[in-house]
Amino acid sequence: MAVDMKAIVIDRYGSVQELHEMTLPVPEIKADEVLVKVAATSVNPIDWRTRTGQMRRDGQQFPLVLGWDVAGVISAVGAAVRHFQVGDAVFARSDHAGADAQYVAIKADKLAMKPGNLSFVQAAAVPLAGMTAFQVIIDQLQVVPGDRVLIQAGAGGVGLFAIQIAKAQGAYVITTASEANREMLLRLGADEVIDYHQTQITAAVHDLDAVFDTTNEIEDGLAVLKPTGMLVSIAGRPTVAQQTGQPSATHWWLHPSGKTLTQLGQLIAVHQVQVVIDSQYPFTTAGVRAAHERSESHHAHGKIVIVVDEKLAEQA
Ligand SMILES: NC(=O)c1ccc[n+]([C@@H]2O[C@H](COP(=O)([O-])OP(=O)(O)OC[C@H]3O[C@@H](n4cnc5c(N)ncnc54)[C@H](OP(=O)(O)O)[C@@H]3O)[C@@H](O)[C@H]2O)c1
Repeated sequence: MAVDMKAIVIDRYGSVQELHEMTLPVPEIKADEVLVKVAATSVNPIDWRTRTGQMRRDGQQFPLVLGWDVAGVISAVGAAVRHFQVGDAVFARSDHAGADAQYVAIKADKLAMKPGNLSFVQAAAVPLAGMTAFQVIIDQLQVVPGDRVLIQAGAGGVGLFAIQIAKAQGAYVITTASEANREMLLRLGADEVIDYHQTQITAAVHDLDAVFDTTNEIEDGLAVLKPTGMLVSIAGRPTVAQQTGQPSATHWWLHPSGKTLTQLGQLIAVHQVQVVIDSQYPFTTAGVRAAHERSESHHAHGKIVIVVDEKLAEQA
């Protein structure tokens, strides 16, 4: 068992130049954790927002390893872990950052078995964005067959999952995107794609049942809902008036959960949800910097993956 590992860290908040390689001890696991040998991770906006210092959390210490999404193989299990064993291929969104490394310690209740039809690269793209989409569409908006739903930024990491999950629920799905993404989004299940560069949603749709706001356009989203409709934003904070009005708006923050990820994995296993990869980067300082820059552009179409262990990633 290795005692040291390669990680990409920051020593202070700042630009992509702060990201650099470092040798760190392999994390020790607590009784309710497993140690995962990381095959791949993916970049989400939380990565670069943390790197720049926009999102600071209590207890964050330098050097700080970023990365929340993990796909890999369990290499050790804590004494209290019952449902996973060494050698299991798993994926997860960890409670804490640390996946830009060869090994990461993760609470067992955040893990799910990797769907057999996904590679490690595809699996790494799922947890944070996919579970956010799942919890908003299924648990918060409670989309049911026949609902007319607007999903903002359909070509983004979250939007692509949300379109497919809403479609699997039997909804009529309207989404916003650039013209270049229209064909892909129709193929994945969108019924209407509105080019947000050309058309304001308030001029194109009305009387919807639900809006999933991923772009902090809450006022416009509320304007296209029917009075009993509901908006959930993951990008902005509704005002008290927006929260208490009819229609109403709420904010949602992902609750990482092995149970949610297992449910999403079942939709993936039966091909109701596909994983769209925007781009793939090597696990080097230059690779992780480039992956952050791609996410920070706000124009990724699908997920940005960092391949941490090429040999392991090729196994599935
Ligand atoms: N609260 C939570 O728990 C939570 C969880 C996950 C994410 N988030 C937040 O949710 C947001 C979306 O995350 P993400 O991972 O999906 O981001 P992302 O993958 O970086 O989104 C990029 C996509 O957004 C599209 N886009 C940009 N501006 C747009 C606009 N005005 N209208 C329609 N599409 C637009 C781009 O399409 P074009 O290239 O065509 O412009 C691109 O496809 C971020 O702010 C993130 O921080 C919150």
